This record gives sequence, C-alpha cells and structure tokens, in this order.
Amino acid sequence: MESSEINTIIDQYNGKESAILAILQDIQGKEKYLPKEILEQVAQIMQIPMTHIFRLATFYNALSIKPRGKHKIDVCLGTACHVRGGNKIVDKLERDLSISVGETTKDKRFTLESVRCVGCCSLGPVAVIDGNVYGRLTQDKIPSLLKEFK
Ligand code: FES
Repeated sequence: MESSEINTIIDQYNGKESAILAILQDIQGKEKYLPKEILEQVAQIMQIPMTHIFRLATFYNALSIKPRGKHKIDVCLGTACHVRGGNKIVDKLERDLSISVGETTKDKRFTLESVRCVGCCSLGPVAVIDGNVYGRLTQDKIPSLLKEFK
C-alpha cells in the first residue's frame, strides 16, 4: 500500500485519533492484514504511539498483524460446541489444511482460528467461514465444505 493510500484513508476520518480502529479496519480490508511498516506510517502520520496502535492491532480478533488467507475459518470452541465435538472439527481442519489454529495455509487460501461462542449454540459444533455460519458439523462434512471455497 502506497503512502498516499494510507493518507487517503486517514483523511476520510479527518485524521481523528478516535477513528483509529476504523482506520486500521480499512487498511486491513485492503491488505488482508496489518503489515508493521504500514502501522509505523500510521503512527507517524497520526502522531499516535506505535505501542498503542500495536496493542489495538493485536487485541481485536478482526485485526491481524499476520498475513491472512483468502478465507477465514473460525471454529467455535465455546462450551456448547466443545461438548458437541468442536475439538474434532479443529483436528480435522488442522489435518486437512496442514496447519494449526492461528496459521494460514501456504497457498494463502485459508486462515484457521478458534472463537468462543458465536451465538448459534443449538447448531453446534459450529464454524464461521467468511462470516457465514456452518452448523452441525462433522469430520466427514469438512472435505466437501472446504471445496466450496476456492
Ligand atoms: S458455543 Fe458455539 S455457538 Fe455457542
């Protein structure tokens, strides 16, 4: 991302410090993650300490300082989904994608994360892929589900 693009995003929010989260989300939307060099530029332009920006970038689940894949899979490991076998879904995804939770596949197709309750407990075990909920998952359903996402 060019410096001018960073400036354009910041200008859209009139450079207000209170809009820093929205600014980071916009950058993340374009870059798919928050590269350190860009965060440093934002810190410099907005005169906000890098430590503050870094804390925000690592605190919110929607933001990431690591490259993310085209599709984000969040497997629910909240109590209800855990009881219904959420861990088995994680195991199967880790095996099929050859990554661990928190990682991105080499081809940058998928990033696998775990979350705590997405509010669809009766459908458990549940995974959210690109914001859409997939419920009553079993290990057998995973291969065909992954095929839906090119
Ligand atoms: S525990 Fe998984 S949706 Fe609530």
